[in-house]
Amino acid sequence: MKCLITGPTSGLGLETTKALAKLGYHLILIGRSKTKLDSLKTSLITEYNCVVDTYTCDLSLITETIQTAKKIKDKYTEIDVLINNAGGIFMDHEITKEGLEMTFALNHMSYFVLTNYLLDCVKKKIINVASEAHRGVVISNDFSNPKYFNGWRQYKKSKLANIYFTYHLDKILSKSNSAVTVNCLHPGVVNTNIANNNKNFFYKVISSFIKFFAISSKQGASTIISLASDSLFDEISGLYFIKSKPVKSSTISYDDDIAESLWTSSNEIWKTM
Ligand SMILES: NC(=O)c1ccc[n+]([C@@H]2O[C@H](COP(=O)([O-])OP(=O)(O)OC[C@H]3O[C@@H](n4cnc5c(N)ncnc54)[C@H](OP(=O)(O)O)[C@@H]3O)[C@@H](O)[C@H]2O)c1
Repeated sequence: MKCLITGPTSGLGLETTKALAKLGYHLILIGRSKTKLDSLKTSLITEYNCVVDTYTCDLSLITETIQTAKKIKDKYTEIDVLINNAGGIFMDHEITKEGLEMTFALNHMSYFVLTNYLLDCVKKKIINVASEAHRGVVISNDFSNPKYFNGWRQYKKSKLANIYFTYHLDKILSKSNSAVTVNCLHPGVVNTNIANNNKNFFYKVISSFIKFFAISSKQGASTIISLASDSLFDEISGLYFIKSKPVKSSTISYDDDIAESLWTSSNEIWKTM
């Protein structure tokens, strides 16, 4: 079984990678640090004797994501499972060199571009790591570059976008009678490195407080690992999971018009790069 995972060098992605290596998966890993990927590859091969292929890529950049996806597509005609996991919280307003707001670019566009580029290679499952943080926000027209930036609100919107993306892709796949499933999940509040790129003092205090109550990455990764490897989920698609059980996402996340409009605008952004 071949599994492609984004963000395998830390937190939830790392725990998922180790668990799938233990199960004998052939791993295709996309991370932003070559040094971290090289050292992860060595330790996975030493410990689990598995096949590991790594790609260095800044997933916040669409052009780099496409170049990497192209290399992967040139090498693999079939990938069983794709796990979109790489993400971050950016409390300061950062713009990528392609002109997109960083949270939008990394947390939403990387899922959208990588999945769509590789769609005909993926044969079984697509798993999108979303979050309960998606509740209490709506996605407006300025999502890709907000006029009034609030880092936490933008993160929440990006996680709502992961759910729209999952539900809309599920519709497209089922219309084309594809056997591929797509689901999303909330891993829990997990003690990872997710907030470490923020210097904001107030945010650091709040996040240290939250981390005190957070579960471990190993516990948090359990839903991702189950969805990827348990045959129980082989034919289930278009759902949002917490603790490996399907649950209702926010009411607005089921709005098909918003999902379609986000899909269209994301596609336009991708095609202009
Ligand atoms: N932690 C939580 O409580 C929680 C809750 C709900 C949902 N989530 C979601 O879980 C996912 C994983 O987050 P995590 O908590 O495991 O965080 P994490 O420990 O910070 O891991 C994030 C991973 O993404 C990689 N990454 C970050 N920016 C990248 C970029 N520009 N290009 C390529 N790779 C990049 C990181 O690489 P480096 O190792 O090089 O930094 C790392 O491997 C995210 O989608 C997040 O929204 C987390």
